[in-house]
Amino acid sequence: MSNKLWGGRFEKGPDQQAFDLNASISIDARMALQDVKGSIAWANATHQAGWLDDSAHQNLIHGLGLIQAEISNQSFQFKPQDEDIHTAVERRLYETIGADAGKLHIGRSRNDQVVTDFKLWLLDNIPSLIAAIQSLQTAFVHRGDKDLGVIMPGYTHLQPAQPILISHFWLAHFWALQRDVEKFHFYHSQLSQCPLGAAALAGTTVPVDRHAIAQALGFQTITANSLDSVANRDYAADFLYYASLLTIHLSKLAEQIILFSTHEFGFLTLADEFTTGSSLMPQKKNPDVFELTRGKTGETIGALTNILITLKGLPSTYDKDLQGDKLPVFTTFDTLLLTLNVVAKAITTLTIHPKKMLASLSPEMMATDLADYLVLKGIPFREAHELVGKVVLQAQTQHCTIADLTLADYQAISPSYQEDLFEWLSPQKSVERRTVPGGTATQSVQQQLTQAKQLLNHSEK
Ligand code: ARG
Repeated sequence: MSNKLWGGRFEKGPDQQAFDLNASISIDARMALQDVKGSIAWANATHQAGWLDDSAHQNLIHGLGLIQAEISNQSFQFKPQDEDIHTAVERRLYETIGADAGKLHIGRSRNDQVVTDFKLWLLDNIPSLIAAIQSLQTAFVHRGDKDLGVIMPGYTHLQPAQPILISHFWLAHFWALQRDVEKFHFYHSQLSQCPLGAAALAGTTVPVDRHAIAQALGFQTITANSLDSVANRDYAADFLYYASLLTIHLSKLAEQIILFSTHEFGFLTLADEFTTGSSLMPQKKNPDVFELTRGKTGETIGALTNILITLKGLPSTYDKDLQGDKLPVFTTFDTLLLTLNVVAKAITTLTIHPKKMLASLSPEMMATDLADYLVLKGIPFREAHELVGKVVLQAQTQHCTIADLTLADYQAISPSYQEDLFEWLSPQKSVERRTVPGGTATQSVQQQLTQAKQLLNHSEK
């Protein structure tokens, strides 16, 4: 098999399996549009620099335009000898315009070309990832509005802790995702440095205007060092780290939803469209969507580990190991996009069971409130804590809850307990006492909702 890109010094073509090992077309074909865009910018730059004559320049721009159209309307045909997307585009350029195609690659290397393509792909696609995160955030805001007023148990150590509004719980997930959105915005701006002109490693000999190339391609600026330009894959690792944190947020959510949808908790039921049955047990309705979401976390963290290990001992600037940078990023991107969209729909369509949540609120969950009650009667908190602990123990001894004890039982523990203590055992009042910004009281949650909506509306503009 001959190779137009680098075959000159070879007497024999590569072994078929060596070719297969070397080829990356099945992965990098999805950067086809970015590759053509980069080539158009490069043809303009070399022409501008006086290294490409007018007629070849015109031919190249014309041919690349045709190829761009073929890629866009999906009529571009790949051939078995296409090693990677750069080879495929150049091969097609020969077929389209003939010998002038050989002038495109003046002063350029696939090393700076591939990083340009990859960065352009990420710049083009990160916005749709951010939009998918925001669609899940929107689902949480809708739930926050719709379910406002419903009280559920809040947990620490998976032990019932204090009552909270379920809207507060939904919004907790909104804010974790908001950090992801902000990270990806930051990522997008950091990524925006154009490496084209670095050539193989030492910088091109063609006196191109690198700033003009960067501007034409939509980059904010240029990279500062040609060696670092072709070696740098921090942006792939950064993407996968941010993606890993995002999947961890989704995985924690998934675990909570799975738990709350069990028979034992019974706080919510998932819509039929987002559950599956069992081939054997007719009664089953399984939360597969959330289990898969939880399960995919391993794939993403594995992808991050993959890239970090690839980078750790590379001796040169470009080493072929780097070809392995795209698959983990693309796979992670696809998984996230799909997962975020499905989870958003599953959250929107689930049904909550307020009565079941209320029934799970034991009066003991208001023990902290009872301690606050004693504090307001002038008792130091540590002492109050002890006096409430004794009440809990007394209830346990009598096999009842702290709400079933009589005033006399309470007063036997401390005379500071008065008749009004019983209203401190109301979960509604417990929730509404937490009016601090970021607290679970209705008015605080409403403030959060307003803030969340402003963030979503702001990013639409
Ligand atoms: N397919 C290669 C990659 O993705 C392109 C760069 C090849 N460069 C080279 N010197 N062989 O990394």
